Amino acid sequence: MAGFKFRHEDEAIHHDSFNILKLGKNLLLKGPTGAGKTRLADDLAAEFGREMVSINCSVDIDMESLLGFKTIEYEEGQQEIIFVDGPVIRAMKNGHILYIDEINMAKPEVLPILNAALDYRRTLMNPLTGEEITADEDFIVIAAINIGYAGTMPMNEALLNRFNVVEIDYVSDDALLEILENQSLQDNPDVLRKLTDFHKDLVTMTRQGQISKESSSVRSLLDLSDLSTLIPPDRALQRTVTDKLDNDQEKTAIYNAFKLHFE
Ligand SMILES: Nc1ncnc2c1ncn2[C@@H]1O[C@H](COP(=O)(O)OP(=O)(O)OP(=O)(O)O)[C@@H](O)[C@H]1O
Ligand SMILES: [Mg+2]
Repeated sequence: MAGFKFRHEDEAIHHDSFNILKLGKNLLLKGPTGAGKTRLADDLAAEFGREMVSINCSVDIDMESLLGFKTIEYEEGQQEIIFVDGPVIRAMKNGHILYIDEINMAKPEVLPILNAALDYRRTLMNPLTGEEITADEDFIVIAAINIGYAGTMPMNEALLNRFNVVEIDYVSDDALLEILENQSLQDNPDVLRKLTDFHKDLVTMTRQGQISKESSSVRSLLDLSDLSTLIPPDRALQRTVTDKLDNDQEKTAIYNAFKLHFE
């Protein structure tokens, strides 16, 4: 499957996600920040040959940002009120993939509007127009939920019940090596090996509760790997990993692990 960039030693992640969508069921990707949820969703959209429409619930989404808004159009001197379809309605009508990022961060009163679209009814009653929309048969929904960082909220039960869940944990060192080889600017095999060995230590420290999950994110490691092509590795570490942390103990633990590999 050339071109698809999501990599994980647990091949069931991709396989099961693919098959959940193949059956037209809603997929919820659960995992820490930078673990590849959006990457996987993008790859799946490409595999199914569907366009993906994204909404982000961490910003202040409301009914209008989901469903659309009314506006006035002038045609031949005549005023006309028209409704501009928002991302949810566009995805439903055109059979796109709707990607709902950080779905647990949405205000509780907003998302129940989607309940009928997400179950066997596959319809949505647009309260802004009174129109009932029936989803195209290609319409599918992928949602993502961040676990392990402050401010995350549990997901509404009725909503959660409508999804099939796939959890993504951080990758093993071999998978990370492949990701860095494919996606990072760094091409020195020695540095890449050191970075993946360092990442292995980070994952161990995360599992032991010594450091937070964000620190072993693939995203940070990619940044570290890229930056280390231009600035000294210890400074690259500071910019991409340690200076994001407030806790000095965590910073020291990470720095010590780094020194083991890079000095
Ligand atoms: N398992 C993976 N395979 C391939 N690339 C990955 C993987 N995990 C992370 N990445 C890369 O790391 C970066 C972050 O990944 P992505 O944006 O998909 O994370 P995310 O889980 O959606 O994070 P967030 O919850 O913060 O949105 C991207 O550049 C992505 O290509
Ligand atoms: Mg994402």
